[in-house]
Amino acid sequence: MTGAATSQTFRTAIVPAAGLGTRFLPATKAVPKELLPVVDTPGIELVAAEAAAAGAERLVIVTSPGKEAVVKYFETQPELEENLTAKGKDELLDKVRRGPALLAVETAIQEQALGLGHAVAQAEPNLKPDDEAVAVLLPDDLVLPTGVLERMSAVRAEFGGSVLCAFDIPKAEISPYGVFDVTDTDDEDVKRVHGMVEKPKPEDAPSTYAAAGRYLLDRAIFDALKRITPGSGGELQLTDAVALLITEGHPVHVVVHRGGRHDLGNPGGFLRAAVDFALETPEYGPSLRAWLTERIGTDRP
Ligand code: G1P
Repeated sequence: MTGAATSQTFRTAIVPAAGLGTRFLPATKAVPKELLPVVDTPGIELVAAEAAAAGAERLVIVTSPGKEAVVKYFETQPELEENLTAKGKDELLDKVRRGPALLAVETAIQEQALGLGHAVAQAEPNLKPDDEAVAVLLPDDLVLPTGVLERMSAVRAEFGGSVLCAFDIPKAEISPYGVFDVTDTDDEDVKRVHGMVEKPKPEDAPSTYAAAGRYLLDRAIFDALKRITPGSGGELQLTDAVALLITEGHPVHVVVHRGGRHDLGNPGGFLRAAVDFALETPEYGPSLRAWLTERIGTDRP
């Protein structure tokens, strides 16, 4: 068995994808933002692939009425597959089959946009009796290179409780995030969490460690989610449910991810991700690099 297999602590991953995507209007009038392609692959497939690679067998997508296309994306398309097979387009066939083959996808519906905590709570009826912990992946966040969920699993196997992913970021940029109050452990990249606050002002932030859209949550989170009241932005915050568990003695740790991150939640971050990924492809990389170099070189402020 591999290390990842021995410390596997979850089978179900939850992806909240119920938001209106207002920062991508007008495109999101018709296309859910989770389906916008990073080069040619929707962001939600990248996140589903990350969950599957970390051992998830089921993906519960929390979506809202009108965003059914997000779940449909993971259904097979026999006619399209036959068509591509007949034409011998094997590479395209592989791409078309890739998403549906990753893991079993289910839906939970969030009828009203009452916050991230509320969205995650909608997945509770989908859980199996043996789901002692679940992974939550926010599809706006790409955490690179992938693999942080495996490290988080290993930390849960060691300490129990819940494990989140943190980024160390400049204090001036901390306000859009959930921020951890931490102390060190023997491992430089693993910290014990003593509190968590959603979207603090820089002067109120307990540290520079921010939540980065990857959570490995003990099932106890669903009970905590029933007991929180609206917090930052008037919304039911996942952060507040984690903070509540901490006050009740539940162990919470973070794995500090030292790699990169893309924010697919706004057009600027999305474009960076698309360019970053495209530069890595043999098909588009070299010509994009040459064009960008020329474009930037000739740019006049
Ligand atoms: C959410 C979480 C926040 C976290 C962030 C990561 O905020 O509430 O704690 O730091 O995702 O991207 P949102 O970006 O939905 O405002």
